[in-house]
Amino acid sequence: MPHTQRKVLFMANTDLKILGLVGSLRAASKNKLLLHEAMRLAPEGLTIEHFDLSSIPMYNGDLDTEENRPDSVNALKEAIKNADGVLLVTPEYNYSVPGVLKNAIDWASRPAYHSVFAKKSVGVLSATPGLLGGVRVQVHLREILFGMHAQIFIHAEFLMGGANNKLDESGQINDATTTEMLVNYLTHWRDWLRSQQS
Ligand SMILES: Cc1cc2nc3c(=O)[nH]c(=O)nc-3n(C[C@H](O)[C@H](O)[C@H](O)COP(=O)(O)O)c2cc1C
Repeated sequence: MPHTQRKVLFMANTDLKILGLVGSLRAASKNKLLLHEAMRLAPEGLTIEHFDLSSIPMYNGDLDTEENRPDSVNALKEAIKNADGVLLVTPEYNYSVPGVLKNAIDWASRPAYHSVFAKKSVGVLSATPGLLGGVRVQVHLREILFGMHAQIFIHAEFLMGGANNKLDESGQINDATTTEMLVNYLTHWRDWLRSQQS
């Protein structure tokens, strides 16, 4: 079998692992539901897991050492390191990034420029009840990720405005256009990740 053909077969069998982080701790969080929808609708070859940020303490530089770093933070950093990509799913708080998510990013961002985020592919989804769907949090996250040398996957941005109507009690997206946008986003990301592996 020619070499190139062998490579294609190998790639097709490789499952890409994505780590999902949610910027809201609410039990009824629309963004948590959105991540669960992304997990359900993920295309073949892409597996998304949810890492719950509720056990991550507030950043404290005195604890950010090999000896003192909290176990939950070590687990977060290890999970990011082992993932092919990180999916941030977040509301917008006061035109920016919710503290829960920013705090987790801060822990994972050390050592500067050489952290588990360096060269990591990062996707962003946002959902808000308002019309804009979190456009400002997406822009702010880009700036933050840029400073960590992460690779931001942009494609067509996925923003869910009117989230209270689009994610109903069943927990599923009830709007065909939004579902299609989410599947497109994930499919393009998978294809881009595969292209980086070859
Ligand atoms: C402290 C706070 C600040 C907020 N600021 C914004 C904002 O700037 N823009 C926006 O679209 N929604 C804002 N919201 C509304 C959130 O988008 C909304 O509560 C959303 O549903 C929260 O996400 P969740 O359902 O995943 O918890 C804010 C909510 C809170 C609690």
